[in-house]
Amino acid sequence: MLLRLTLTLGHLLFFLWPAVTQAAPGVSLSSNTVLDNSAIYFVSYDGLVNVNSFQLNGVLTYGSYQYAGWYAADKTVKLARRKTGATSWETLTLNHSLVAQDSHNVVTLGVSPADGRIHVAMDCHSTRLYYTVSAASAAGTAVGWSASLFGSITNTIGSLNIGTVITYPQFVVTPSNLLQFVYRTGVSGNGDYQLAEYNNGTWTSVGQWAKKEGSYTQNGGTSSARSLYIHGFTYRDGRAHVTGTWRENSGSVTCNSGGLTNHDTVYIYSDDAGRAWKNAAGTTVSKPISVTTSGIIVDSLNPDHGLMNQESQDVDSNGRIHALISYVPGRFKQCVTSYQSDRTAYGHAFHVYQASNGTFVKVEIPFDIGSVGRSQIALDANDNAYVVLPFGRIVTASASSGWTDWTMAFNGSSQGLNAFGEVTVDRPGLVASGRKNLGVLYQEKSSNGASSPIHVAQFTLGG
Ligand SMILES: *[C@@H]1O[C@H](CO)[C@@H](O)[C@H](O)[C@H]1NC(C)=O
Ligand SMILES: *[C@@H]1O[C@H](CO)[C@@H](O)[C@H](O)[C@H]1NC(C)=O
Ligand SMILES: *[C@@H]1O[C@H](CO)[C@@H](O)[C@H](O)[C@H]1NC(C)=O
Ligand SMILES: *[C@@H]1O[C@H](CO)[C@@H](O)[C@H](O)[C@H]1NC(C)=O
Repeated sequence: MLLRLTLTLGHLLFFLWPAVTQAAPGVSLSSNTVLDNSAIYFVSYDGLVNVNSFQLNGVLTYGSYQYAGWYAADKTVKLARRKTGATSWETLTLNHSLVAQDSHNVVTLGVSPADGRIHVAMDCHSTRLYYTVSAASAAGTAVGWSASLFGSITNTIGSLNIGTVITYPQFVVTPSNLLQFVYRTGVSGNGDYQLAEYNNGTWTSVGQWAKKEGSYTQNGGTSSARSLYIHGFTYRDGRAHVTGTWRENSGSVTCNSGGLTNHDTVYIYSDDAGRAWKNAAGTTVSKPISVTTSGIIVDSLNPDHGLMNQESQDVDSNGRIHALISYVPGRFKQCVTSYQSDRTAYGHAFHVYQASNGTFVKVEIPFDIGSVGRSQIALDANDNAYVVLPFGRIVTASASSGWTDWTMAFNGSSQGLNAFGEVTVDRPGLVASGRKNLGVLYQEKSSNGASSPIHVAQFTLGG
């Protein structure tokens, strides 16, 4: 009887103790290195050309190396690498200089695992793209790091002609280890989404998967063209997941011309590497998807709220999507009249995820974004969520709380990062580390166009 009672108390303590102490996970800064003390700095479209939320990837881990790309003060393209965890970087200069003072024109890196080539796509905004690729086996090895490792710079990707009106180049790796290239053709509010694939040394088109056509009516106005803006293109356990928002061509659909025509959060997934797509209910949708495709809106929001495009997303260990969106909640304003000043004053980030019962849940993250810019969401091995808000502020929530216990785990503002605002993260490195480490690429705030240091900070997740 006594023994039985002791065991019972022991069990009670065992089960109660963790429940009582359960809390949002911590993060710790494990290193912070400077890539370049004088990276180019200009603010356009509220952002920096060296650090943009949509970069896949501005910083990337492959094998035991980490890579990063940016523009130096003299506009040349720099690529750096280091052994994971090393304090110093080796840097080479590509034979290309930034063509326009436009923050869209980012440098983006990908690696094709089958042959270990490093692919670089850059410097486009509704223009032709610049692309180059390294020699085979350059990625993840100690091969000499010099510009001669890379081939000539072309406006095609390999021999595939993708046209001359390209924006948002992104690289992802499929479950069968093929590199894919995700990009927009056409322009903002009047564009399409495309997919290409690199197999056995050759790029081929997989085809268009989102289109501009269709009619959308709101606030008494009608818009007859748009473009999809994606929060990411994420493979996990054989499935590609995409969330995004539509941007309408016609400003007549908003309550005020100072707002943004972005509306709704959509979700689709593909089990065959982007050939066919399904909505959240598992119904195959016709390709390319459009604003009238049924069953793809998972969070409805009209264009009156300064909803941001191209924030971020991740997928949890159960294969469920988690998107990060941000806008001005209705309790502050029902009609955004200046998306820049209203987002800075009132903008909040929201965690939108698919719950185990299949429904989508949205939780407001209780911290001001304090910026026009975007945030990055990442999940650790236990599906706890980490959101890097502008200025390198990291807020976290535990999966066990149902992602409700949002806590400031690292305050980049008070820690003196002096980050411009928006950052981009090393998503391949997160996965490669078993979701224990997160690399954050950020550039220091500057003024009057003076160049500034660009950094990679590594954070240890959990604990
Ligand atoms: C660098 O690029 C220019 C064209 O922009 C080309 O004329 C020149 O040959 C290139 N140099 C090397 C070393 O590839
Ligand atoms: C891969 O490409 C090489 C040369 O381009 C070709 O000879 C070979 O047949 C290709 N292999 C496959 C499986 O397509
Ligand atoms: C589905 O799960 C979510 C999150 O746990 C919950 O808020 C919601 O009420 C559930 N919906 C139904 C229909 O059970
Ligand atoms: C983060 O640091 C900034 C600057 O010191 C401070 O104003 C802000 O209140 C801090 N945020 C939190 C949630 O502690």
